[in-house]
Amino acid sequence: MEIKKIFVAGAGLMGGGIAQVCAQAGYRVVMRDLMPEIVEKGIKNIKWSVTKLVEKGKVQGSVAEIMERIEPATDLSSASDADFVFEAIVEILEVKRELFEELDKICRPDVIFATNTSAIPITNIAEATRRASRFVGTHFFSPVPMMRILEIVKGLLTSDQTVKTAVEIGKSLGKETIVVNRDVAGFALNRINFPSTIEAIKLVEAGVVSVEDVDKGMRFGFGRPMGPFETADLAGLDVGFNAMSAVYKETQDEKFHPPMLLQRKVKIGHLGRKTGIGWYRYDEKGNKLGPA
Ligand SMILES: NC(=O)c1ccc[n+]([C@@H]2O[C@H](COP(=O)([O-])OP(=O)(O)OC[C@H]3O[C@@H](n4cnc5c(N)ncnc54)[C@H](O)[C@@H]3O)[C@@H](O)[C@H]2O)c1
Repeated sequence: MEIKKIFVAGAGLMGGGIAQVCAQAGYRVVMRDLMPEIVEKGIKNIKWSVTKLVEKGKVQGSVAEIMERIEPATDLSSASDADFVFEAIVEILEVKRELFEELDKICRPDVIFATNTSAIPITNIAEATRRASRFVGTHFFSPVPMMRILEIVKGLLTSDQTVKTAVEIGKSLGKETIVVNRDVAGFALNRINFPSTIEAIKLVEAGVVSVEDVDKGMRFGFGRPMGPFETADLAGLDVGFNAMSAVYKETQDEKFHPPMLLQRKVKIGHLGRKTGIGWYRYDEKGNKLGPA
């Protein structure tokens, strides 16, 4: 089946990013969220990002022609003629299951469903549908238009053909893909990365080193585009905390236990860029002001 039209559920940070890279790659996209104002905000963010990328010559085509490919939607029935589905809604199992149960009725049976969950087992979401063999994890990294990697995660019942199609789509979006063969919490890359982020937080907690110096060190010492605290502020401290907690819950391994300082910050709503304060403080335009 030729994939022409992609349905993206969620117009937030990740859904917007996924819709953007799909439109940039030439697909027609329907981006759906719960309320028109959320979808509009998502479209506005995409336009800002596409404009910057076109100006820098990093994306071919005009802003208008890319934006025209994205159709905003609040109605789920707009998924009825989609050829592929990406889901990037809130990280709550029951909410994701409910959405997929509905989409299962609306979409053609041959359509593949892909979830961008950070840490929920793919198998548990797929089970809400009658197409577990055509259900796969596609774990994009934030910011989606910038980060090249895409983890393709096999659920227990995901077929090899589904993985193959997901890899092909990932490549068509300009991503480098890796296949995660088992549906373990945290998949592969976060399983490797979390212990280092947790250690960084513990070192800050103990007064050994500052947030800024960790980020600087990881950028210049290890060639990362962003340090772990800058990355956490962008992704959302709550998103990181929930994902670490899920990995810890599944493995019971101390190295994944979210540190106290992170727990406290999430509790008081210091969630990063989206709340104006996380590990750093930001002004209304999102400019970094200094450490929190
Ligand atoms: N933030 C990250 O860095 C990151 C990285 C990888 C994966 N993820 C995962 O991606 C998913 C989305 O994360 P996000 O950071 O974009 O969150 P977000 O809060 O920015 O966006 C989620 C959006 O989903 C919408 N939504 C809720 N229920 C919905 C429904 N039933 N139908 C359609 N839309 C609905 C919300 O209104 C919101 O706009 C989560 O599963 C998250 O764990 C996030």
